[in-house]
Amino acid sequence: MVERPTLTTPRLRLRPFCEADSRDVQCLAGEKEIAAGTLLIPHPYPDGLARAWIKSHQQSYERGEGVVWAVTLEPAGTLVGAIGLTIDSENGRAELGYWIGRPYWSRSYATEAGKAVIDYGFNVLGLNRIYARHLGRNPASGRVMQKLGMSLEGRLRQDVKKWGRFDDLELYAILRTEYDGTQDENA
Ligand SMILES: CC(C)(COP(=O)(O)OP(=O)(O)OC[C@H]1O[C@@H](n2cnc3c(N)ncnc32)[C@H](O)[C@@H]1OP(=O)(O)O)[C@@H](O)C(=O)NCCC(=O)NCCS
Repeated sequence: MVERPTLTTPRLRLRPFCEADSRDVQCLAGEKEIAAGTLLIPHPYPDGLARAWIKSHQQSYERGEGVVWAVTLEPAGTLVGAIGLTIDSENGRAELGYWIGRPYWSRSYATEAGKAVIDYGFNVLGLNRIYARHLGRNPASGRVMQKLGMSLEGRLRQDVKKWGRFDDLELYAILRTEYDGTQDENA
């Protein structure tokens, strides 16, 4: 089995999910506010979904289709969220996705984890473009994308129907050239 990566930041450890995380994932991702901000997480969150989702990660990584990390707090190891990249290697791009459990919001955890994942995407995966999309009704996620140095590329008007209501999708991205520029500034 190919070992999946672990990333560390000043306050966080981003590690592969394991089966033992299933209960915490169901508990955190099962809160309505998490489903409300995301495109794919259902509410109510069904039994068995967390386990199946976690089980899918190894194969997805080995096929080069994606990487998912559990966002955990150092040093206690508390699971606070999830973050990942869905990779399109042919086009050298990936979509960034994330959620942070409701009790842990507004502590910059999404931003701190996102920075580490963007570093990984450009430096380890050699991507050319990392993009992310958020619902118009979810401006906090747009703020995270801005703090990650992504630029707003456009608004897909009424692109999705979420819980019976059409909503816009806001598209953000950062290119390798822009990322490299910020690294030069910080050097
Ligand atoms: C969006 C989400 C990941 C943010 O996580 P977080 O760890 O709280 O994010 P951060 O603390 O790094 O940054 C949040 C920013 O949004 C801002 N914010 C919060 N609510 C906001 C609102 N209603 N409007 C605008 N900005 C808002 C915060 O003030 C903060 O910005 P600041 O640092 O400039 O003050 C989290 O709320 C979440 O998981 N939501 C549900 C799932 C989801 O939306 N996932 C993303 C799908 S695209």
